[in-house]
Amino acid sequence: MSEFISIEGIARRFGQQAVFEDLWLGIPRGNFTCMIGHSGCGKTTVLNILAGLDRPSDGVVVVDGTGIEGPSLDRAVVFQSHALLPWRSVLGNVAFAVSSRWPDAPRAEVEQRARAAIAKVGLAGSEAKRPAELSGGMKQRVGIARALSIEPKILLMDEPFSALDALTRGTLQDEVRRICTQTDQTVFMITHDVDEAIYLADRIVLMTNGPGAEIAEIVVNTLPRARTRADLHHQPGFYELRNHLIDFLVTRSRNFRDHAPAGHDRRHPPEVRLAIPHADNASPTQENAHAS
Ligand SMILES: Nc1ncnc2c1ncn2[C@@H]1O[C@H](COP(=O)(O)OP(=O)(O)OP(=O)(O)O)[C@@H](O)[C@H]1O
Ligand SMILES: [Mg+2]
Repeated sequence: MSEFISIEGIARRFGQQAVFEDLWLGIPRGNFTCMIGHSGCGKTTVLNILAGLDRPSDGVVVVDGTGIEGPSLDRAVVFQSHALLPWRSVLGNVAFAVSSRWPDAPRAEVEQRARAAIAKVGLAGSEAKRPAELSGGMKQRVGIARALSIEPKILLMDEPFSALDALTRGTLQDEVRRICTQTDQTVFMITHDVDEAIYLADRIVLMTNGPGAEIAEIVVNTLPRARTRADLHHQPGFYELRNHLIDFLVTRSRNFRDHAPAGHDRRHPPEVRLAIPHADNASPTQENAHAS
C-alpha cells in the first residue's frame, strides 16, 4: 500500500474476545477521515493503536513508511475529555507540549508557538487562565491548540465535541474545519454524529457492530469541499448521504455479516460514492476502491 497511514490486518483481542480481526484501512495524506459505528465496536481501540497508546494483537500500522512502535509527537491526540494539566495555565499547557516537541527551542520561541496555537482556536486573551476557570468548550479548544501546536503529521480525535453544547460544538467544528483545510492536515476522527461527519470528513469509514467488528465500507464525501455548516443541508446529495449513513447505523451495522455484498474483501473495503442527484441521475453507485 502506498497510503500515508496504512492499517494492515490488525486485530485486537481481550482474552477470548476479539474486538476486531484482520482490519485493513488506508488513509491518504491530507485526508480528513471520520469513523462512525455503534458504541463498543472498537473505534477508540483503533484510534489508540494509531496513537501508539495500545498495540494490536496482530498486524501492523505503518505511518509514512515506518511501523508504529509507540506514542510519537508526530501523532497528536485530542481526547473526548480534554486531559489538561490542572495546575498549569492555558499557555503553560500548550507550551508544555511545544517544549516536548522542540526541547532545544528558546523559551521565547516556545511561548510564541504556544500563543499562535492558542490564537488559532480563538482563545487569545485567556492564556493566563487555569483549566478550572474555563468552560467545557474552552477546555476542548485548549486540547485542540495543544495538539496543533506540535504541528503533528496526524491529528487523532476521539469524539472531541461530544461533551459540548450544540452552539459551542458548531463553532468548534467550523474552526477545526478551517484550520485543517488550510493546512491540509491529515486527520482521523471518531464521531457518533452523522452531520458532523458529513460536514468535516472527506471520507467516512463505516464500522460494523462488535465483537468481531469490521469495516463495511468507506463512503466518499461527494459534497463540495467549500461547504459550510449553514449551507450543508441545502447541498444536492446531502440527504442521500445522510440517509445512507443512518441506514447503515440503524440496520446494516448490525446485520452486515449476514448480508455482506458478494466478494466483500476485508483487505480492500469498498469505496462508495453516492451520485449527486440530478433529475436523470439519482441512484447511488458503488465501486471498489482498487478497481479505479
Ligand atoms: N482494556 C480492556 N479490557 C477489556 N475489554 C476492553 C478494553 N478496552 C476496550 N475493551 C472492549 O473493547 C470493545 C471496544 O471498545 P472501544 O472503546 O474501542 O469502543 P468504541 O467503539 O470506542 O465505543 P464508544 O463509542 O462507546 O466510545 C468494547 O467491547 C470494550 O468493552
Ligand atoms: Mg470510544
